Amino acid sequence: MARAAVLHAVGDKELDLRDDVSTIDPGPDQVKVRIKATGVCHSDLSTMTGVLPSALPTVIGHEGAGVVAEVGDRVTGVQPGDHVVVNWTPDCGECAECLRGEPYLCMTYLAQSFSEPGFKLGDGSPAFGMAGTGTWAEEIVLPRRGVVKIAEDIPFEYAALLGCGIPTGVGAVINTAKVAPGSKVAVVGAGGVGLSVIQGARIAGASTILAIDPNEAKHSIAKQFGATHTATLDGLEEAKGLLTGGAGFDYTFEVVGKSAAITTAWNATRRGGDVIVVGAGAFDDNWSQTAFALLFDGKSLKASLYGGCDLKRDIPLFVDLWRAGKLDIDGLISRRIGFEDLNDAVRALTNGEVIRQVVVFD
Ligand SMILES: NC(=O)c1ccc[n+]([C@@H]2O[C@H](COP(=O)([O-])OP(=O)(O)OC[C@H]3O[C@@H](n4cnc5c(N)ncnc54)[C@H](O)[C@@H]3O)[C@@H](O)[C@H]2O)c1
Ligand SMILES: [Zn+2]
Ligand SMILES: [Zn+2]
Repeated sequence: MARAAVLHAVGDKELDLRDDVSTIDPGPDQVKVRIKATGVCHSDLSTMTGVLPSALPTVIGHEGAGVVAEVGDRVTGVQPGDHVVVNWTPDCGECAECLRGEPYLCMTYLAQSFSEPGFKLGDGSPAFGMAGTGTWAEEIVLPRRGVVKIAEDIPFEYAALLGCGIPTGVGAVINTAKVAPGSKVAVVGAGGVGLSVIQGARIAGASTILAIDPNEAKHSIAKQFGATHTATLDGLEEAKGLLTGGAGFDYTFEVVGKSAAITTAWNATRRGGDVIVVGAGAFDDNWSQTAFALLFDGKSLKASLYGGCDLKRDIPLFVDLWRAGKLDIDGLISRRIGFEDLNDAVRALTNGEVIRQVVVFD
């Protein structure tokens, strides 16, 4: 029996923090992981509010790292005791998306997770895992490809962030947008993922990085991560005038998850520039643009799911950047918390009081 945070109904404000949850037994191609640290990402809130779909009841959490506890008969490449990062979109290696080299679009395991529960509650009833993971739990069973082995000297709370916020944000810059050195970049939303976009743009050599966030408490933090300028929504036009002569930014990243923020990003971008959607919005939150503007403004709208990453390839790169002092992971962590603090952590993220909070399991 282990601890896990369970959502029973969409819209519940409080998670059921239980200590009687067990996992299914790992199958031949699965691994069981003892989670050591797990982050609180906005996608966790969005699952609780129903912006992102889930099968109920669901164990929340998808940004995690831990130690392999058991492996199935056919598993190779990892063994008990290995330190791993959880990958919330494991690649099956065989579908059309995987074969095209787009593992972040693989739906094989994600789709299965809606019909195959990975947990059991104390009374024996099944529970699903958010996005096929469910890292707000001490133990979890994942497909072999749902874990990426890492070196043992990487602190687990940093490794957890290598499972979502960092690859999503930095990956959006280097894999999806391929920001060119000297570019002018704007980032709409300076939360945990937006700050990772900001430091990705700094690493890529952007000359100007504008962080746009209505919450002014985020502005000084954005500067720590490489933003050269900051603006509220009201101050955006003035900043755009000052920094780009009114023309707009080469690349603008939307890192909020709302159609209104995509419009903000679109309007901040220069003719011919790129708008990159990183935020995860609701299925009924429509965004529109006129056919005329779509063609004659020459702007491109790109989606960046999981930062366009192949985690097997990209986690070693992020680790090297961290070792070289170029990627700040520690600065993203506002507070280290216990499992019992998760409901308060959800409240704090909802209220915009924090960047990343990381549960450290003892
Ligand atoms: N693409 C992916 O694969 C992927 C992965 C992880 C997270 N996400 C999504 O990225 C988004 C950001 O996640 P996070 O963890 O950084 O969230 P967060 O809550 O830490 O940060 C969101 C930030 O946006 C700001 N904000 C709110 N409304 C705004 C507006 N209209 N304009 C500008 N800024 C605004 C908030 O003040 C906050 O600072 C969420 O939608 C999350 O679900 C996507
Ligand atoms: Zn696949
Ligand atoms: Zn996330």
